[in-house]
Amino acid sequence: MADEKRDEFLQGVFPEGFAWATATASYQIEGAWKEDGKGESIWDRFAHTPGKVYEGHNGDIACDSYHKYDEDIKLMKSLGLTHYRFSIAWPRIFPDGTAASLNQKGLDFYNKFIDALLAANVIPMVTLYHWDLPQTLQDKGGWPNPEIADHFNDYADICFKTFGDRVKMWITLNEPICSTYLGYGIGMHAPGIKDPLNAMFKTAHTLIRAHTKAYRTYESKYKAQQKGVCGITMNSDWDEPKDPRNKDDVEAAERVLQYKLGWYASPIFGKAGDYPAVMKKNLEQKAGLLGLPGSPLPEFTEEEKQLNKGASDFFGLNYYSSRLITNDTSGDPAHIAGLMDAEETTDPSWPRAKSKWLFSVPWGLRKLINWITAEYGRPQIWITENGSSDDGELNDEFRINYYRKHINEVMKATIVDGCDVRGYTAWSLLDNFEWAEGYSEHFGLHSVDFNDPERKRIAKKSAGFIAEVIKNNGFPG
Ligand code: NOJ
Repeated sequence: MADEKRDEFLQGVFPEGFAWATATASYQIEGAWKEDGKGESIWDRFAHTPGKVYEGHNGDIACDSYHKYDEDIKLMKSLGLTHYRFSIAWPRIFPDGTAASLNQKGLDFYNKFIDALLAANVIPMVTLYHWDLPQTLQDKGGWPNPEIADHFNDYADICFKTFGDRVKMWITLNEPICSTYLGYGIGMHAPGIKDPLNAMFKTAHTLIRAHTKAYRTYESKYKAQQKGVCGITMNSDWDEPKDPRNKDDVEAAERVLQYKLGWYASPIFGKAGDYPAVMKKNLEQKAGLLGLPGSPLPEFTEEEKQLNKGASDFFGLNYYSSRLITNDTSGDPAHIAGLMDAEETTDPSWPRAKSKWLFSVPWGLRKLINWITAEYGRPQIWITENGSSDDGELNDEFRINYYRKHINEVMKATIVDGCDVRGYTAWSLLDNFEWAEGYSEHFGLHSVDFNDPERKRIAKKSAGFIAEVIKNNGFPG
């Protein structure tokens, strides 16, 4: 793709049957944090701990979608969505994280919600883990503890069994690198642990094992009868070499992508069922520098590698932004950028959203889709999140522009480049609890007044824009 043509707008439409969704997550929208037998999650605990979340905000009520899901479904209908991506709160199903604590009221809630979605002709796309680990499992060590993979598998199993007659699209984990790096590496997210050379790598390992176990459970016990699909959603920036003529920067950008995305994608979509070779080599070298007895990267057994390989029916991708990468060996290897021997910057011409990490770089999404297609043998790709943040204004031109350009890049990747993209999901249906940033950053197509006990929803201008794109299945001339 010639650089000067990169930003040209393409008129056209997506293939017939292309899916259109919006996404949310349980802790970010549901509220009802201790209703109907729900157990405490690591996010309840974290948000209730002073100093962890912006101005002490929490998800106790959030958008109150636990009680107002009928209103949410009306919003979905007015957008014309084909699919809705939401997550199940593990601590509603197993309040103490284990099968012994099964909570019928938790199952009842999602049964009702799924039925209501289907009655409205909206197809559910269900994420099993969007970061709300039951606190009791954290008390047993959390994700660095390998046993959590078995508890996750039990939880996934009951969800497949209970909802699988109606849910045909499952996503095991959402953005595992965020649980890993933000949760157990730098402590910015729950459970707030800062242990980048130990807990962080163990967390990733358990998450991948948990995913694979759940996928294999679905495959062996439910798939033939229920005829659904099961996959995983990963996120990544696009990493562009700062100087594309500099071989070291090109290698560094590739290395960074392997760390951010390959860490999770390579075991599942790669040929060896294992971590990326470049990451393994790099971490072995770093171990010496750090005075560690060996690489901090745990090893999969041969059996685990075989099970990892191909353990996903589709590639769920969340994309928000891009980075410029410079090769840099001067960093502190105790931090992830130092481990990767890379410096990340952004281009001054990239428009920044409200979130400090979010720069609008639409062509990065096309490049990332193409990279995944080449790296992993043309998997079926679902864009499971993409979106932009602001202060919550109703006249949200920045968001409209962001969506317009990003959806157009997905279209180029699909109809010009021939990548197998099946659907696009906007984050988010409505303004919600943006993790450590609380309610200070808004990603919704609908605004929610968090000071109003009714949590009234109001359509933003972008909702009308998305509805139009969906109606046209793209951008006909
Ligand atoms: C990705 C996460 O999955 C979602 O929970 C979050 O709100 C958005 N990114 C925006 O940061």
